Amino acid sequence: MSTAAIVPAAGSGVRLGADRPKALVSLAGEPLVVHALRALRDSAVVDRVVIAAPPDRLDELTATLPAAWSGWATVIAGGAVRQASVAAGLESMSGDHELVLVHDAARALVPPAVVIRVVDALRAGAPAVIPVVPVSDTVKRVRDGRVLETVDRASLYAVQTPQGFRRDVLAEAHANAMETAATDDAGLVERIGGEVCVVDGDAEAFKITAPLDLALAEAVLRSRRV
Ligand code: CTP
Ligand code: MG
Repeated sequence: MSTAAIVPAAGSGVRLGADRPKALVSLAGEPLVVHALRALRDSAVVDRVVIAAPPDRLDELTATLPAAWSGWATVIAGGAVRQASVAAGLESMSGDHELVLVHDAARALVPPAVVIRVVDALRAGAPAVIPVVPVSDTVKRVRDGRVLETVDRASLYAVQTPQGFRRDVLAEAHANAMETAATDDAGLVERIGGEVCVVDGDAEAFKITAPLDLALAEAVLRSRRV
């Protein structure tokens, strides 16, 4: 089944606090978005990719992509919020792809094996698939500075990307999203009563959000190179 990916990369990266949008921040000499795209490419299960870039950085982002990716990767203008960037990516794609992945540029070091697990589950018939990792911290519900309860973490998982969907399922979920926001695309599928399946994520698919995450990413890359 033909598979396309949307890479939301239009955020400004306020929490990282760099001098440029997060997707263009350098990690071991290459922008985060290039690392994220390479993981998709190395998985060999993604037939084409649409990158939602900051609208004022389209040329700059395009110029960072290796020439060999020109037929594979297309850069479009993202939206004001992540959901709008994904919707723009979805609208820009032709209907030839039965499966669509959504992968944050900020999860730059996702191992290709995670991408393959998501696509394999879709090919096996799941309408929506997300990679998850168990929550390792103790989690408590807090209000007004006091603990209300300790949440049983046995059933809690942290969610990563790429999230994968049958194209019609993702399109319907976004069409029904209207103005209401969800922090991930699977959340929109849940709202229309869709079934979302899970596969194992990977610690290295963490999201680069704050400066400490960038330091961790540098260390992960070093460990991969030895
Ligand atoms: N994103 C996007 N369009 C937006 C906002 C976010 O495509 N309008 C993308 C980001 O580029 C990122 C992913 O969504 O790859 C996850 O968002 P996040 O980690 O929050 O990145 P930023 O929004 O850039 O960071 P911050 O919230 O710290 O500003
Ligand atoms: Mg953000």
